[in-house]
Amino acid sequence: MKLALFSSQRYEQHAFEQHCPAGTDVRFFEVSLNAQTASLSDGFDAVCVFVNDDLNAQTIALIARHGVKLILLRCAGFNNVDLNAAKTHGIRVARVPAYSPEAVAEHCVALMLTLSRKTHKAYNRVREDNFDLNGLLGFNLHGKTVGLIGCGKIGLALVSILNGFGARVLVSDPASPSGNFELVSQPELLQRADIISLHCPLNEQTYHIIDETTLAAMKPGVMLINTGRGALLDSKACINALKTGQLGYLGLDVYEQESELFFKDRSEEILQDDVFARLLTFKNVLITGHQGFFTQEALAEIVQTTYFNLEQFGKCEPLENEVK
Ligand code: NAI
Repeated sequence: MKLALFSSQRYEQHAFEQHCPAGTDVRFFEVSLNAQTASLSDGFDAVCVFVNDDLNAQTIALIARHGVKLILLRCAGFNNVDLNAAKTHGIRVARVPAYSPEAVAEHCVALMLTLSRKTHKAYNRVREDNFDLNGLLGFNLHGKTVGLIGCGKIGLALVSILNGFGARVLVSDPASPSGNFELVSQPELLQRADIISLHCPLNEQTYHIIDETTLAAMKPGVMLINTGRGALLDSKACINALKTGQLGYLGLDVYEQESELFFKDRSEEILQDDVFARLLTFKNVLITGHQGFFTQEALAEIVQTTYFNLEQFGKCEPLENEVK
């Protein structure tokens, strides 16, 4: 089997090479897969892609023409793949459904605690021998109400951690999951939560689930955390809510236009995205570049499951992790 791995990063190449099964030929491409780069897939049986590769109908038609029969997502979300187009062209799609829900849940808590205890500011102050506490007053997670919009694998992992903190957890999720939390409607969650965290997939129903209207329905000074997908929230509406103080804290690991920014060193470039640049100016906004998944444990699972999916396809077995 010949596998072309797109959006390849140094941190994963070694692991993919080391665990490459016998009979598999893996080739790494730093560029992301889209209609412009689709010709690179010529002669490969499978392409392996990540969150910001653009597998729209045009890209899929092109890779099908080049002989690709399988798309391997090395992530859980599949919002960047046109599944209807893949079906039309007889291309199967498989993903890594859960590499480490705990990794993302823990990163979420890292964002919450950094914002609530202002450790990002404290770190810089102490390095400059400034031990003044003024401006660093935080708040306890204990006793606070945290609302999760979407509570699947990552949400449930987060519930366990938040229970440990002694926070009250509210969940809104059409699948009505059960656990140590209170299941409520989304309007009730927006009204009651001190901290809101997004853990639903991005689709037509959840696009800009956080917009001007939902932001206005939240408690004044609320903390909002998004480690789901960038387009779950309307960034411009968040900027307006930050300016009035309605939004008190914003922690982001994902951003709607992140495909133009994330996963590359752009420190020598001029930032062209004015919305992102404005977000960076707020002292109560903390942004990480889609690293919620990025732990040793999750990376090992991604490599293992991706090759497992490829092997099942090679043996013509049913694909356990197929996305249909
Ligand atoms: P999951 O599929 O286990 O859970 C998603 C939950 O969202 C389900 O319970 C579903 O019923 C619920 N849901 C669907 N529509 C909803 C709506 N309109 N309102 C409220 N809930 C809704 O998915 P998992 O593994 O927990 O991942 C969640 C999302 O996290 C993924 O779709 C992906 O976008 C993102 N993610 C981010 C990572 C990062 O590194 N920042 C890494 C992995 C996933």
